[in-house]
Amino acid sequence: MNIGIIGAGNIGANAARLFADAGHRVAISNSRGPESLSSLVEEIGPNASAVSVEEAAGFGEVVLVAIPFGRYETLPAAQLADKVVIDATNYYPGRDGQMDLGGLTSSEVISQHLPGARIVKAFNTMHYETLRTRGSQSYEDRVMLFVAGDDVEAKAVVSGLIDEIGFAPVDTGSLRDGGGRQQPGSPIYNEPMSDERAREILSGIG
Ligand SMILES: NC(=O)c1ccc[n+]([C@@H]2O[C@H](COP(=O)([O-])OP(=O)(O)OC[C@H]3O[C@@H](n4cnc5c(N)ncnc54)[C@H](OP(=O)(O)O)[C@@H]3O)[C@@H](O)[C@H]2O)c1
Repeated sequence: MNIGIIGAGNIGANAARLFADAGHRVAISNSRGPESLSSLVEEIGPNASAVSVEEAAGFGEVVLVAIPFGRYETLPAAQLADKVVIDATNYYPGRDGQMDLGGLTSSEVISQHLPGARIVKAFNTMHYETLRTRGSQSYEDRVMLFVAGDDVEAKAVVSGLIDEIGFAPVDTGSLRDGGGRQQPGSPIYNEPMSDERAREILSGIG
């Protein structure tokens, strides 16, 4: 699969490496431009290339967005229409500034900015060190990675990718309800956990 990566920091770079190691082609972008990514793509290997944000958006059947949430309005809506867009961002007022989300979850706000994009909120609940180190091909000790979204097919595509890189996808629901359950401060946020524990917590938070 071709996967575009927008944001090449802790989450974007580590996810890109995992996707490339699983055999996918990744086109990686950041705000400073492809030249600044030459050592990263060299290190990841032949499945990786460095591109502009617009090129990353156009390249991927799936596009991972891993930028500070406060920059979401810079995402190229035209290139992302119809794409499966993984929203890994979180809203942190201390970093992103005070923003009025109008009662929406941060992923719903991104969804409004990207008409036609098939948004799946995922990779936002896991610390990048857990993502980097805890993937496992053994099903016994897999760590959960949560997915939320309104497009069932898109969620299945993202869940398949999560499985390939050694984590277990758990569906938390729609972009509104599941997206809310996945936001910072939730009991499933930044807590590496087993399937059983994840389901126990999710049944408790409604
Ligand atoms: N850190 C974690 O463990 C973690 C876990 C889950 C989710 N998240 C969320 O994931 C997002 C990224 O976090 P991170 O820790 O990976 O951040 P980070 O290490 O600071 O990296 C951010 C990346 O986004 C790029 N970027 C910034 N503005 C951009 C724009 N307008 N267009 C394209 N690229 C842009 C930066 O590029 P330049 O360097 O060129 O500016 C950088 O490559 C955040 O929303 C965060 O809350 C983080």
